[in-house]
Amino acid sequence: VTGSEVRVADTLDDVDWHAVRVDLLADDFDNGRTPTALRRSFEASQHVAIAWAGDRVVGTARLLSDGVCNAYVVDVWTLTSYRRQGVAARMMTLLVEAVPGQHVGLFTDDMQAFYAAVGFRLQGDFLSLVSGSWLDNAGNRDED
Ligand SMILES: CC(C)(COP(=O)(O)OP(=O)(O)OC[C@H]1O[C@@H](n2cnc3c(N)ncnc32)[C@H](O)[C@@H]1OP(=O)(O)O)[C@@H](O)C(=O)NCCC(=O)NCCS
Repeated sequence: VTGSEVRVADTLDDVDWHAVRVDLLADDFDNGRTPTALRRSFEASQHVAIAWAGDRVVGTARLLSDGVCNAYVVDVWTLTSYRRQGVAARMMTLLVEAVPGQHVGLFTDDMQAFYAAVGFRLQGDFLSLVSGSWLDNAGNRDED
């Protein structure tokens, strides 16, 4: 998918996870993962959307799916200076179109307006827990 200046890719080719982590921190959207843990979580996702402006990652999104009926979207982020230009909408379109026939869910604290704009509707209540302590697992340790 290409736009005027931002390209949305469906692969993780060329992503510099250290640079992404730096931008997430600067954008106050870091949730504690190391660069290696970020890479692992994206690599383990069935579908990814990476927005590029030149050689800089300016947006991410990923989708977990069982390949049959259920999918879940996480890590939707557009770099602040690239917001309100349709970048995240394009990433969401790429992910949703990758899973035809599947029910796609997600959680948001405060971006309901964005998800409504790309077709999502509130449904039921969302319940969650953290198993043990957040990010205390082998996936978040830096050894490969
Ligand atoms: C939410 C987020 C990903 C949206 O990214 P974006 O690239 O700016 O979104 P788009 O430009 O594709 O927005 C498409 C439409 O969604 C709606 N929308 C997007 N951001 C909005 C906001 N902050 N408030 C209200 N509506 C919004 C608008 O209708 C917009 O269309 P418009 O610009 O023509 O009015 C971005 O604001 C972000 O990264 N926020 C911080 C991280 C975050 O909260 N992620 C979601 C976690 S669940």
